[in-house]
Amino acid sequence: MPVPPTSGRLQWNDIPAPLRARLEDALGAPVIDAVTPQGGFGHQLAAALHLADGRRVFAKAAPDNDPLTAANLREAAVLDTLPPDVSAPQLVGIHRAADWTAVVIAHLDGPHPDLSPPSVDVEQVWAHLGRLTSSPAPAPYATAVGTAPSTAPLHGWGELLSDPPGDLARAARDRLPQLAELEAAWPDLACGDRIVHGDLRADNMVRDRHLGVTFVDWAHATTGPACIDATSLAPQLILAGHSPADIDRMLHEHPATSSNPDATTAFLAALTGHWHRNARRPAPPGAPGLRAYQHRAAAAGLALLGHRLR
Ligand SMILES: Nc1ncnc2c1ncn2[C@@H]1O[C@H](COP(=O)(O)OP(=O)(O)OP(=O)(O)O)[C@@H](O)[C@H]1O
Ligand SMILES: [Mg+2]
Repeated sequence: MPVPPTSGRLQWNDIPAPLRARLEDALGAPVIDAVTPQGGFGHQLAAALHLADGRRVFAKAAPDNDPLTAANLREAAVLDTLPPDVSAPQLVGIHRAADWTAVVIAHLDGPHPDLSPPSVDVEQVWAHLGRLTSSPAPAPYATAVGTAPSTAPLHGWGELLSDPPGDLARAARDRLPQLAELEAAWPDLACGDRIVHGDLRADNMVRDRHLGVTFVDWAHATTGPACIDATSLAPQLILAGHSPADIDRMLHEHPATSSNPDATTAFLAALTGHWHRNARRPAPPGAPGLRAYQHRAAAAGLALLGHRLR
């Protein structure tokens, strides 16, 4: 699957010297190289730090007045409270200096998984999602992510219905009232007690050579019904080359989504509406590939909705 382009990320030498020194001190060895992996849209440091003694760690860092620092601290709290059977890296530590904060995470060694057919990585991802959603989130995790489900505000069709853009796909235009009605039902369905990663794409997974496919970037984690991650993954699989019909079948078969088809359809409508609406907005600074990606994701989500609403 093509990974979205890496934007202009901060590099190791952009980090203030006091924070670099603090990190090297805490890690017990100088950093001899810092490698920025491909993928994601963020502008913060997100790099594998190679230490002089041969170890590697993964670090994310931003100034304290950048909202990404709050997101990184939230991710650290989530990593610290995930049950051990969840496929995620360990939190190593949090370090602060010069009004910057770095979160250090265990390094995973490998590429992004291949989500295109017939890769076996996809089977691993579905199996992880089955485990992740088979029982309620532990209380410390629920405390770390807060009570309000962050997926509830997703929407877009209502606004597009009131002023349909000229370039809106025919398949969306023909169904706008139905899509707006479905997404309007979503906020009432968005509460649930399961762990939700909240941003599952190939570039938020690493196929570690020992651990296999592992989910990273837990900054958007929340709670919700079991269907959320499997449903948001579905358009990603279509972008990776799977047919909408095959993915529709998977959603009908997978326990996370088959158990709640109404919430699955309402969430898919809300997420697809969010993409259709946001893709038409001006590009935010520092994220050059984001709007093009949202256009592609919007089309994939709509193709899948076409199957579910037959
Ligand atoms: N623990 C890890 N070990 C090795 N590589 C990792 C690890 N965590 C993330 N990565 C890689 O680094 C990239 C950026 O990390 P991450 O997605 O956490 O950063 P981000 O700035 O929050 O991303 P985004 O731009 O998606 O918001 C990921 O796409 C992945 O390739
Ligand atoms: Mg990411």
